Amino acid sequence: MRHAKVLIDRDFVIGHTDPRLFGGFIEHLGRCVYGGIYEPDHPTADERGFRGDVLALIKELGPTVVRYPGGNFVSGYNWEDGVGPAESRPSRLDLAWFSTEPNHFGTNEFIDWCRAAGLEPMLAVNLGTRGGDAARNLVEYCNHPRGTAWSDLRRAHGWEQPHDVKLWCLGNEMDGPWQMEHKTAEVYGAIAREAAKMMRSVDPTIKLVACGSSAHNMPTFARWEDTVLEHTFDHVDYISLHTYLNNYRRDTASFLASPDLMDRFIEDVVALADAAAAKRRSDKRMMLSFDEWNVWYRTGRRRTDLLKGEWPVAPAILEEVYTMEDALAFGGACISLLNHADRVKVACLAQLVNVIAPIMTQKGGSAWRQTIFFPFAHMGRLGRGRVLRTQVESETYETSGILDKFFALHNVPYLKMAAVAGDAGSLSLFILNRDLQQEMEVSVEARSFDRLSVREALELRHHDLEATNAEDAPERVKPRPLHAVGMDARRLLATLKPASWNVVHLAPS
Ligand code: AHR
Repeated sequence: MRHAKVLIDRDFVIGHTDPRLFGGFIEHLGRCVYGGIYEPDHPTADERGFRGDVLALIKELGPTVVRYPGGNFVSGYNWEDGVGPAESRPSRLDLAWFSTEPNHFGTNEFIDWCRAAGLEPMLAVNLGTRGGDAARNLVEYCNHPRGTAWSDLRRAHGWEQPHDVKLWCLGNEMDGPWQMEHKTAEVYGAIAREAAKMMRSVDPTIKLVACGSSAHNMPTFARWEDTVLEHTFDHVDYISLHTYLNNYRRDTASFLASPDLMDRFIEDVVALADAAAAKRRSDKRMMLSFDEWNVWYRTGRRRTDLLKGEWPVAPAILEEVYTMEDALAFGGACISLLNHADRVKVACLAQLVNVIAPIMTQKGGSAWRQTIFFPFAHMGRLGRGRVLRTQVESETYETSGILDKFFALHNVPYLKMAAVAGDAGSLSLFILNRDLQQEMEVSVEARSFDRLSVREALELRHHDLEATNAEDAPERVKPRPLHAVGMDARRLLATLKPASWNVVHLAPS
Protein backbone atom coordinates (compact mmCIF):
# COMPACT_ATOMS: atom_id res chain seq x y z
CA MET A 1 0.00 0.00 0.00
CA ARG A 2 1.29 3.46 -0.86
CA HIS A 3 0.45 6.57 1.12
CA ALA A 4 -0.02 10.14 -0.04
CA LYS A 5 -0.87 13.31 1.83
CA VAL A 6 -2.44 16.40 0.28
CA LEU A 7 -3.05 19.83 1.70
CA ILE A 8 -5.38 22.37 0.10
CA ASP A 9 -6.76 25.65 1.31
CA ARG A 10 -9.92 27.24 0.03
CA ASP A 11 -8.13 30.59 -0.28
CA PHE A 12 -5.07 29.40 -2.18
CA VAL A 13 -6.36 29.74 -5.70
CA ILE A 14 -4.53 29.05 -8.97
CA GLY A 15 -7.25 30.50 -11.16
CA HIS A 16 -10.86 30.28 -12.28
CA THR A 17 -11.76 27.75 -14.94
CA ASP A 18 -12.92 29.47 -18.09
CA PRO A 19 -15.94 27.66 -19.58
CA ARG A 20 -13.92 27.37 -22.79
CA LEU A 21 -11.42 25.10 -21.02
CA PHE A 22 -13.84 22.24 -21.67
CA GLY A 23 -13.90 22.47 -25.47
CA GLY A 24 -13.80 19.97 -28.32
CA PHE A 25 -12.87 19.80 -31.98
CA ILE A 26 -14.65 18.71 -35.18
CA GLU A 27 -12.57 18.46 -38.35
CA HIS A 28 -13.46 17.43 -41.88
CA LEU A 29 -11.43 14.29 -41.41
CA GLY A 30 -12.48 10.68 -41.83
CA ARG A 31 -15.91 10.03 -40.34
CA CYS A 32 -15.93 12.91 -37.86
CA VAL A 33 -18.46 14.98 -39.84
CA TYR A 34 -19.89 12.53 -42.39
CA GLY A 35 -21.15 9.47 -40.51
CA GLY A 36 -20.30 11.14 -37.21
CA ILE A 37 -22.28 14.25 -36.35
CA TYR A 38 -23.99 14.33 -39.78
CA GLU A 39 -25.68 11.29 -41.32
CA PRO A 40 -28.96 12.22 -43.01
CA ASP A 41 -30.00 8.57 -43.55
CA HIS A 42 -29.51 7.58 -39.94
CA PRO A 43 -32.71 6.59 -38.08
CA THR A 44 -32.05 9.21 -35.37
CA ALA A 45 -31.19 12.05 -37.79
CA ASP A 46 -33.29 15.21 -37.77
CA GLU A 47 -34.38 17.12 -40.87
CA ARG A 48 -30.93 18.74 -41.04
CA GLY A 49 -29.15 15.38 -41.03
CA PHE A 50 -27.78 15.70 -37.47
CA ARG A 51 -27.58 12.34 -35.71
CA GLY A 52 -29.73 12.49 -32.58
CA ASP A 53 -27.89 9.71 -30.77
CA VAL A 54 -24.57 11.55 -31.27
CA LEU A 55 -26.08 14.84 -30.14
CA ALA A 56 -27.31 13.13 -26.96
CA LEU A 57 -23.82 11.77 -26.23
CA ILE A 58 -22.23 15.13 -26.99
CA LYS A 59 -24.55 16.73 -24.44
CA GLU A 60 -23.59 14.08 -21.89
CA LEU A 61 -19.88 14.57 -22.63
CA GLY A 62 -20.40 18.29 -22.08
CA PRO A 63 -17.96 20.23 -24.30
CA THR A 64 -18.57 23.97 -24.24
CA VAL A 65 -16.89 25.30 -27.34
CA VAL A 66 -16.03 23.44 -30.57
CA ARG A 67 -13.22 24.24 -32.99
CA TYR A 68 -13.95 23.70 -36.72
CA PRO A 69 -13.27 22.88 -39.63
CA GLY A 70 -9.62 21.84 -38.97
CA GLY A 71 -6.95 20.97 -38.25
CA ASN A 72 -4.79 20.24 -41.24
CA PHE A 73 -7.91 20.31 -43.42
CA VAL A 74 -8.38 24.05 -42.95
CA SER A 75 -5.05 24.88 -44.57
CA GLY A 76 -6.46 23.92 -47.99
CA TYR A 77 -10.12 24.83 -47.41
CA ASN A 78 -12.10 27.32 -49.44
CA TRP A 79 -14.90 28.21 -47.06
CA GLU A 80 -17.04 29.46 -49.98
CA ASP A 81 -17.27 25.83 -51.21
CA GLY A 82 -19.24 24.91 -48.10
CA VAL A 83 -22.01 27.52 -48.25
CA GLY A 84 -25.00 28.04 -50.55
CA PRO A 85 -27.30 25.54 -52.21
CA ALA A 86 -26.07 22.02 -51.47
CA GLU A 87 -26.53 20.84 -55.07
CA SER A 88 -24.13 23.45 -56.43
CA ARG A 89 -21.32 22.89 -53.93
CA PRO A 90 -18.15 21.44 -55.47
CA SER A 91 -16.36 18.26 -54.47
CA ARG A 92 -12.66 18.86 -53.86
CA LEU A 93 -9.58 16.82 -53.19
CA ASP A 94 -8.55 17.23 -49.57
CA LEU A 95 -4.76 17.07 -49.58
CA ALA A 96 -4.55 16.95 -45.80
CA TRP A 97 -6.24 13.56 -45.45
CA PHE A 98 -6.12 12.29 -49.04
CA SER A 99 -9.91 12.21 -49.24
CA THR A 100 -12.65 13.75 -51.34
CA GLU A 101 -14.54 16.53 -49.57
CA PRO A 102 -18.13 16.68 -50.90
CA ASN A 103 -18.94 19.94 -49.06
CA HIS A 104 -22.42 18.79 -48.04
CA PHE A 105 -21.67 20.19 -44.62
CA GLY A 106 -20.13 23.65 -44.20
CA THR A 107 -20.01 26.70 -41.95
CA ASN A 108 -23.76 27.30 -41.70
CA GLU A 109 -24.53 23.66 -40.95
CA PHE A 110 -21.80 23.69 -38.33
CA ILE A 111 -23.28 26.74 -36.65
CA ASP A 112 -26.73 25.08 -36.64
CA TRP A 113 -25.21 21.92 -35.18
CA CYS A 114 -23.52 23.96 -32.42
CA ARG A 115 -26.82 25.63 -31.59
CA ALA A 116 -28.57 22.23 -31.51
CA ALA A 117 -25.86 20.92 -29.16
CA GLY A 118 -25.77 24.09 -27.04
CA LEU A 119 -22.13 24.80 -27.91
CA GLU A 120 -20.10 27.85 -28.81
CA PRO A 121 -18.48 27.71 -32.29
CA MET A 122 -14.76 28.44 -32.69
CA LEU A 123 -13.78 28.85 -36.34
CA ALA A 124 -10.33 28.44 -37.85
CA VAL A 125 -9.40 30.38 -41.00
CA ASN A 126 -7.13 29.12 -43.75
CA LEU A 127 -3.75 30.84 -43.52
CA GLY A 128 -2.10 28.07 -45.57
CA THR A 129 -3.25 28.24 -49.18
CA ARG A 130 -5.18 31.45 -48.48
CA GLY A 131 -4.73 34.53 -46.36
CA GLY A 132 -6.16 37.61 -44.74
CA ASP A 133 -8.58 38.44 -47.55
CA ALA A 134 -10.50 35.13 -47.41
CA ALA A 135 -10.37 35.31 -43.61
CA ARG A 136 -11.88 38.78 -43.32
CA ASN A 137 -14.56 37.82 -45.86
CA LEU A 138 -15.52 34.85 -43.72
CA VAL A 139 -15.82 37.07 -40.64
CA GLU A 140 -18.02 39.42 -42.66
CA TYR A 141 -20.13 36.53 -43.98
CA CYS A 142 -20.63 35.16 -40.46
CA ASN A 143 -20.84 38.21 -38.23
CA HIS A 144 -21.85 41.29 -40.21
CA PRO A 145 -25.58 41.92 -39.85
CA ARG A 146 -26.55 42.98 -43.37
CA GLY A 147 -26.06 45.39 -46.26
CA THR A 148 -22.79 44.08 -47.75
CA ALA A 149 -22.22 41.42 -50.38
CA TRP A 150 -20.94 38.80 -47.94
CA SER A 151 -23.48 39.41 -45.18
CA ASP A 152 -26.35 39.52 -47.68
CA LEU A 153 -25.07 36.29 -49.19
CA ARG A 154 -25.42 34.63 -45.78
CA ARG A 155 -28.95 35.98 -45.55
CA ALA A 156 -29.70 34.74 -49.07
CA HIS A 157 -28.42 31.33 -47.99
CA GLY A 158 -31.09 31.26 -45.31
CA TRP A 159 -29.32 32.58 -42.19
CA GLU A 160 -30.87 35.98 -41.57
CA GLN A 161 -29.23 36.61 -38.21
CA PRO A 162 -25.44 36.93 -37.89
CA HIS A 163 -23.73 33.87 -36.43
CA ASP A 164 -21.81 36.11 -34.03
CA VAL A 165 -18.77 33.81 -33.83
CA LYS A 166 -16.49 35.21 -31.15
CA LEU A 167 -13.48 32.91 -31.22
CA TRP A 168 -11.21 32.52 -34.29
CA CYS A 169 -7.99 30.61 -34.93
CA LEU A 170 -5.46 32.21 -37.28
CA GLY A 171 -4.61 29.05 -39.20
CA ASN A 172 -3.56 25.66 -37.91
CA GLU A 173 -0.14 24.24 -37.00
CA MET A 174 1.64 26.56 -39.39
CA ASP A 175 5.00 25.46 -37.91
CA GLY A 176 4.48 21.92 -39.24
CA PRO A 177 6.15 20.89 -42.52
CA TRP A 178 3.09 18.61 -43.12
CA GLN A 179 0.85 21.66 -43.31
CA MET A 180 -0.30 22.90 -46.72
CA GLU A 181 1.76 26.03 -47.33
CA HIS A 182 3.64 25.62 -44.09
CA LYS A 183 5.46 28.85 -43.26
CA THR A 184 8.44 30.13 -41.36
CA ALA A 185 7.63 31.91 -38.11
CA GLU A 186 8.61 35.20 -39.71
CA VAL A 187 6.25 34.77 -42.67
CA TYR A 188 3.40 33.30 -40.63
CA GLY A 189 3.72 36.00 -37.96
CA ALA A 190 3.37 38.78 -40.52
CA ILE A 191 0.41 37.11 -42.28
CA ALA A 192 -1.35 36.36 -39.00
CA ARG A 193 -0.90 39.94 -37.83
CA GLU A 194 -2.37 41.41 -41.00
CA ALA A 195 -5.24 38.90 -41.05
CA ALA A 196 -5.94 39.73 -37.39
CA LYS A 197 -6.07 43.46 -38.12
CA MET A 198 -8.55 43.01 -40.97
CA MET A 199 -10.72 40.46 -39.14
CA ARG A 200 -10.91 42.77 -36.13
CA SER A 201 -11.75 45.73 -38.36
CA VAL A 202 -14.78 43.78 -39.58
CA ASP A 203 -15.80 42.78 -36.04
CA PRO A 204 -13.89 44.31 -33.11
CA THR A 205 -15.57 41.97 -30.63
CA ILE A 206 -13.85 38.81 -31.84
CA LYS A 207 -11.02 37.04 -29.99
CA LEU A 208 -8.08 35.63 -31.91
CA VAL A 209 -5.71 32.70 -31.45
CA ALA A 210 -2.25 32.75 -33.07
CA CYS A 211 -0.60 29.42 -33.88
CA GLY A 212 2.05 28.41 -31.40
CA SER A 213 3.96 25.15 -31.78
CA SER A 214 2.19 22.00 -32.87
CA ALA A 215 4.16 20.05 -30.25
CA HIS A 216 6.59 20.79 -27.46
CA ASN A 217 9.28 18.75 -29.19
CA MET A 218 9.14 20.60 -32.51
CA PRO A 219 12.70 21.67 -33.37
CA THR A 220 11.46 25.24 -33.86
CA PHE A 221 9.71 25.39 -30.46
CA ALA A 222 10.37 28.62 -28.50
CA ARG A 223 11.98 30.41 -31.45
CA TRP A 224 8.63 30.01 -33.21
CA GLU A 225 6.69 31.51 -30.27
CA ASP A 226 9.22 34.34 -29.91
CA THR A 227 8.94 35.38 -33.53
CA VAL A 228 5.19 34.90 -33.89
CA LEU A 229 4.55 36.91 -30.72
CA GLU A 230 6.94 39.58 -31.94
CA HIS A 231 4.50 40.13 -34.81
CA THR A 232 1.15 39.39 -33.22
CA PHE A 233 1.41 40.30 -29.53
CA ASP A 234 -0.72 43.42 -29.82
CA HIS A 235 -3.28 41.83 -32.14
CA VAL A 236 -4.23 38.48 -30.64
CA ASP A 237 -5.62 37.17 -27.36
CA TYR A 238 -4.24 33.64 -27.24
CA ILE A 239 -1.31 31.57 -28.43
CA SER A 240 -2.03 27.91 -29.20
CA LEU A 241 -0.42 24.63 -28.08
CA HIS A 242 -1.11 21.08 -29.28
CA THR A 243 -0.18 17.77 -27.65
CA TYR A 244 -0.96 14.15 -28.38
CA LEU A 245 0.23 11.76 -25.68
CA ASN A 246 1.57 8.43 -26.86
CA ASN A 247 2.73 5.06 -25.67
CA TYR A 248 4.87 4.15 -28.66
CA ARG A 249 7.39 2.54 -26.38
CA ARG A 250 4.81 0.33 -24.66
CA ASP A 251 5.95 1.56 -21.28
CA THR A 252 2.83 2.19 -19.25
CA ALA A 253 4.50 3.86 -16.27
CA SER A 254 6.21 6.40 -18.55
CA PHE A 255 3.00 6.88 -20.52
CA LEU A 256 1.11 7.77 -17.34
CA ALA A 257 3.89 10.20 -16.43
CA SER A 258 3.73 11.91 -19.82
CA PRO A 259 0.87 14.32 -18.97
CA ASP A 260 3.46 16.02 -16.74
CA LEU A 261 5.13 17.12 -19.97
CA MET A 262 1.95 19.05 -20.76
CA ASP A 263 2.50 20.96 -17.51
CA ARG A 264 6.01 21.77 -18.65
CA PHE A 265 4.88 22.77 -22.14
CA ILE A 266 2.27 25.13 -20.70
CA GLU A 267 4.78 26.65 -18.29
CA ASP A 268 7.31 27.14 -21.09
CA VAL A 269 4.75 28.90 -23.30
CA VAL A 270 3.67 31.10 -20.39
CA ALA A 271 7.33 32.05 -19.91
CA LEU A 272 7.68 32.89 -23.61
CA ALA A 273 4.46 34.92 -23.64
CA ASP A 274 5.47 36.82 -20.52
CA ALA A 275 8.93 37.44 -21.95
CA ALA A 276 7.27 38.99 -24.99
CA ALA A 277 5.24 41.18 -22.61
CA ALA A 278 8.34 42.15 -20.63
CA LYS A 279 10.21 43.17 -23.80
CA ARG A 280 7.34 45.57 -24.52
CA ARG A 281 6.97 46.65 -20.89
CA SER A 282 3.38 45.52 -21.35
CA ASP A 283 1.10 44.32 -18.60
CA LYS A 284 -0.95 42.34 -21.11
CA ARG A 285 -1.02 38.65 -20.22
CA MET A 286 -1.35 36.49 -23.33
CA MET A 287 -3.62 33.55 -22.58
CA LEU A 288 -3.14 30.01 -23.90
CA SER A 289 -5.41 28.02 -26.17
CA PHE A 290 -4.60 24.31 -25.87
CA ASP A 291 -6.75 23.74 -28.90
CA GLU A 292 -5.75 20.16 -29.69
CA TRP A 293 -5.01 17.59 -27.00
CA ASN A 294 -5.61 13.89 -26.58
CA VAL A 295 -3.94 10.50 -26.63
CA TRP A 296 -3.13 9.49 -30.22
CA TYR A 297 -0.50 7.13 -31.57
CA ARG A 298 -1.91 3.99 -33.12
CA THR A 299 -3.24 5.50 -36.33
CA GLY A 300 -1.49 7.94 -38.62
CA ARG A 301 -1.41 10.17 -41.62
CA ARG A 302 0.78 8.24 -44.02
CA ARG A 303 -0.36 8.92 -47.57
CA THR A 304 0.08 5.29 -48.61
CA ASP A 305 -2.14 4.10 -45.75
CA LEU A 306 -4.81 6.69 -46.35
CA LEU A 307 -5.05 6.89 -50.11
CA LYS A 308 -4.96 3.24 -51.15
CA GLY A 309 -5.21 4.36 -54.78
CA GLU A 310 -8.52 6.19 -54.31
CA TRP A 311 -9.77 9.47 -52.96
CA PRO A 312 -12.61 8.21 -50.76
CA VAL A 313 -15.28 10.34 -49.11
CA ALA A 314 -15.15 10.10 -45.31
CA PRO A 315 -12.89 7.03 -45.04
CA ALA A 316 -12.66 5.32 -41.65
CA ILE A 317 -9.26 6.77 -40.71
CA LEU A 318 -7.71 7.74 -37.38
CA GLU A 319 -10.33 5.63 -35.60
CA GLU A 320 -8.24 5.07 -32.51
CA VAL A 321 -9.74 2.51 -30.14
CA TYR A 322 -9.00 3.72 -26.63
CA THR A 323 -7.97 1.43 -23.79
CA MET A 324 -8.29 1.75 -20.04
CA GLU A 325 -4.63 2.75 -19.96
CA ASP A 326 -5.32 5.57 -22.43
CA ALA A 327 -8.11 6.85 -20.19
CA LEU A 328 -5.62 7.13 -17.32
CA ALA A 329 -3.11 9.15 -19.34
CA PHE A 330 -6.02 11.22 -20.65
CA GLY A 331 -7.21 11.85 -17.08
CA GLY A 332 -3.69 13.05 -16.26
CA ALA A 333 -4.00 15.54 -19.13
CA CYS A 334 -7.32 16.79 -17.71
CA ILE A 335 -5.57 17.41 -14.38
CA SER A 336 -2.73 19.29 -16.14
CA LEU A 337 -5.24 21.58 -17.85
CA LEU A 338 -7.17 22.27 -14.65
CA ASN A 339 -3.98 23.05 -12.76
CA HIS A 340 -3.15 25.78 -15.28
CA ALA A 341 -6.57 27.40 -15.31
CA ASP A 342 -4.94 30.78 -14.67
CA ARG A 343 -3.42 30.83 -18.19
CA VAL A 344 -5.04 28.08 -20.24
CA LYS A 345 -8.36 29.69 -21.06
CA VAL A 346 -9.33 27.59 -24.09
CA ALA A 347 -8.74 23.88 -24.59
CA CYS A 348 -10.16 21.53 -27.22
CA LEU A 349 -10.26 17.77 -26.97
CA ALA A 350 -9.24 16.56 -30.43
CA GLN A 351 -11.53 15.28 -31.67
CA LEU A 352 -15.15 14.52 -30.72
CA VAL A 353 -16.57 11.78 -32.94
CA ASN A 354 -14.95 8.73 -34.62
CA VAL A 355 -11.60 10.43 -35.33
CA ILE A 356 -9.37 10.03 -32.22
CA ALA A 357 -12.59 10.52 -30.32
CA PRO A 358 -14.51 9.80 -27.13
CA ILE A 359 -17.64 8.97 -29.17
CA MET A 360 -17.76 6.26 -31.84
CA THR A 361 -20.53 5.48 -34.29
CA GLN A 362 -21.54 2.71 -36.61
CA LYS A 363 -22.97 3.82 -39.94
CA GLY A 364 -26.73 3.38 -39.65
CA GLY A 365 -26.20 1.84 -36.21
CA SER A 366 -25.39 2.75 -32.66
CA ALA A 367 -23.09 5.25 -30.98
CA TRP A 368 -21.04 4.47 -27.87
CA ARG A 369 -18.62 5.96 -25.36
CA GLN A 370 -14.90 5.19 -25.52
CA THR A 371 -12.86 4.95 -22.32
CA ILE A 372 -11.61 8.54 -22.58
CA PHE A 373 -15.20 9.82 -22.55
CA PHE A 374 -15.43 9.53 -18.79
CA PRO A 375 -12.56 11.68 -17.44
CA PHE A 376 -13.59 14.45 -19.82
CA ALA A 377 -17.24 14.27 -18.75
CA HIS A 378 -16.21 14.31 -15.08
CA MET A 379 -13.92 17.29 -15.57
CA GLY A 380 -16.60 19.25 -17.47
CA ARG A 381 -19.35 18.52 -14.97
CA LEU A 382 -17.43 18.92 -11.70
CA GLY A 383 -14.36 20.94 -12.65
CA ARG A 384 -15.94 24.38 -12.87
CA GLY A 385 -14.87 27.00 -10.37
CA ARG A 386 -11.68 28.01 -8.59
CA VAL A 387 -8.79 25.61 -9.04
CA LEU A 388 -6.88 25.33 -5.77
CA ARG A 389 -3.21 24.70 -5.19
CA THR A 390 -2.57 21.15 -4.06
CA GLN A 391 0.45 20.44 -1.93
CA VAL A 392 1.09 16.79 -2.62
CA GLU A 393 3.37 14.47 -0.66
CA SER A 394 3.62 11.26 -2.62
CA GLU A 395 6.27 8.69 -3.33
CA THR A 396 7.75 9.07 -6.77
CA TYR A 397 9.06 6.90 -9.58
CA GLU A 398 11.49 7.16 -12.45
CA THR A 399 10.46 6.91 -16.06
CA SER A 400 12.67 4.81 -18.25
CA GLY A 401 14.98 7.51 -19.53
CA ILE A 402 13.99 10.00 -22.15
CA LEU A 403 10.28 10.19 -22.89
CA ASP A 404 10.65 11.72 -26.29
CA LYS A 405 13.54 13.20 -28.17
CA PHE A 406 13.97 16.12 -25.80
CA PHE A 407 12.40 15.34 -22.49
CA ALA A 408 13.06 13.09 -19.55
CA LEU A 409 10.91 12.91 -16.44
CA HIS A 410 12.32 12.14 -13.02
CA ASN A 411 10.72 11.89 -9.58
CA VAL A 412 7.23 11.50 -10.96
CA PRO A 413 4.71 11.47 -8.09
CA TYR A 414 2.46 8.42 -8.13
CA LEU A 415 -0.39 10.73 -7.26
CA LYS A 416 -1.45 13.44 -9.70
CA MET A 417 -4.43 15.55 -8.78
CA ALA A 418 -6.46 18.72 -9.13
CA ALA A 419 -8.88 20.32 -6.67
CA VAL A 420 -11.67 22.65 -7.75
CA ALA A 421 -13.80 24.71 -5.37
CA GLY A 422 -17.26 25.14 -6.82
CA ASP A 423 -20.36 27.07 -5.91
CA ALA A 424 -21.79 27.02 -2.43
CA GLY A 425 -18.65 25.73 -0.72
CA SER A 426 -18.34 22.49 -2.72
CA LEU A 427 -15.04 20.84 -3.56
CA SER A 428 -14.22 18.39 -6.36
CA LEU A 429 -11.09 16.26 -6.39
CA PHE A 430 -9.69 14.57 -9.50
CA ILE A 431 -7.11 11.98 -8.49
CA LEU A 432 -4.97 9.69 -10.60
CA ASN A 433 -3.16 6.79 -8.91
CA ARG A 434 -0.30 6.05 -11.30
CA ASP A 435 0.99 3.09 -9.38
CA LEU A 436 0.30 0.06 -11.54
CA GLN A 437 0.47 -2.47 -8.72
CA GLN A 438 -0.31 -0.90 -5.38
CA GLU A 439 -3.34 0.65 -3.79
CA MET A 440 -2.88 4.14 -2.43
CA GLU A 441 -4.23 5.51 0.82
CA VAL A 442 -4.75 9.24 0.32
CA SER A 443 -5.47 11.77 2.99
CA VAL A 444 -6.61 15.23 1.86
CA GLU A 445 -6.78 18.05 4.38
CA ALA A 446 -9.19 20.72 3.14
CA ARG A 447 -8.47 23.90 5.09
CA SER A 448 -10.90 26.83 5.42
CA PHE A 449 -13.83 24.77 4.19
CA ASP A 450 -16.99 24.21 6.19
CA ARG A 451 -17.53 20.66 7.33
CA LEU A 452 -17.81 18.65 4.11
CA SER A 453 -19.41 15.36 3.27
CA VAL A 454 -18.99 13.10 0.27
CA ARG A 455 -21.78 13.62 -2.28
CA GLU A 456 -20.38 11.58 -5.12
CA ALA A 457 -17.35 9.32 -5.48
CA LEU A 458 -16.45 7.46 -8.66
CA GLU A 459 -13.57 5.38 -9.90
CA LEU A 460 -12.61 4.35 -13.43
CA ARG A 461 -10.44 1.27 -13.60
CA HIS A 462 -10.26 -2.19 -15.10
CA HIS A 463 -8.08 -5.16 -14.18
CA ASP A 464 -7.05 -5.29 -17.86
CA LEU A 465 -5.36 -2.04 -18.89
CA GLU A 466 -5.96 -3.03 -22.51
CA ALA A 467 -9.74 -3.19 -22.01
CA THR A 468 -11.76 -1.15 -24.52
CA ASN A 469 -15.41 -0.41 -25.22
CA ALA A 470 -16.95 -1.49 -28.50
CA GLU A 471 -20.29 -1.52 -30.26
CA ASP A 472 -21.08 -4.95 -28.84
CA ALA A 473 -19.53 -4.17 -25.41
CA PRO A 474 -20.20 -0.47 -24.89
CA GLU A 475 -19.91 -0.59 -21.09
CA ARG A 476 -16.91 -2.81 -20.49
CA VAL A 477 -15.06 0.19 -19.10
CA LYS A 478 -17.20 2.66 -17.19
CA PRO A 479 -17.09 4.57 -13.91
CA ARG A 480 -18.35 2.79 -10.82
CA PRO A 481 -18.91 4.02 -7.27
CA LEU A 482 -15.77 4.45 -5.20
CA HIS A 483 -16.65 2.97 -1.83
CA ALA A 484 -13.41 3.31 0.09
CA VAL A 485 -13.83 7.01 0.82
CA GLY A 486 -14.98 9.01 3.83
CA MET A 487 -14.47 12.13 5.91
CA ASP A 488 -12.68 12.26 9.22
CA ALA A 489 -13.24 15.78 10.64
CA ARG A 490 -11.80 18.03 7.86
CA ARG A 491 -9.79 15.28 6.28
CA LEU A 492 -10.82 13.13 3.36
CA LEU A 493 -9.54 9.57 3.50
CA ALA A 494 -9.68 7.37 0.42
CA THR A 495 -8.12 4.13 -0.69
CA LEU A 496 -7.52 4.17 -4.43
CA LYS A 497 -7.06 1.10 -6.58
CA PRO A 498 -3.84 0.76 -8.59
CA ALA A 499 -3.97 2.41 -12.01
CA SER A 500 -7.20 4.27 -11.33
CA TRP A 501 -8.88 7.60 -12.12
CA ASN A 502 -10.95 8.83 -9.20
CA VAL A 503 -13.37 11.71 -8.72
CA VAL A 504 -14.73 12.82 -5.35
CA HIS A 505 -17.29 15.57 -4.99
CA LEU A 506 -17.78 17.06 -1.55
CA ALA A 507 -20.31 19.58 -0.32
CA PRO A 508 -21.00 21.25 3.03
CA SER A 509 -22.76 18.80 5.35
O1 AHR B 1 -6.43 16.17 -34.90
C1 AHR B 1 -5.77 15.55 -35.97
C2 AHR B 1 -4.70 16.43 -36.59
O2 AHR B 1 -3.66 16.60 -35.68
C3 AHR B 1 -5.11 17.84 -36.94
O3 AHR B 1 -5.70 17.93 -38.19
C4 AHR B 1 -3.81 18.58 -36.92
O4 AHR B 1 -3.96 19.92 -36.58
C5 AHR B 1 -2.96 17.80 -35.94
O5 AHR B 1 -1.71 17.50 -36.47
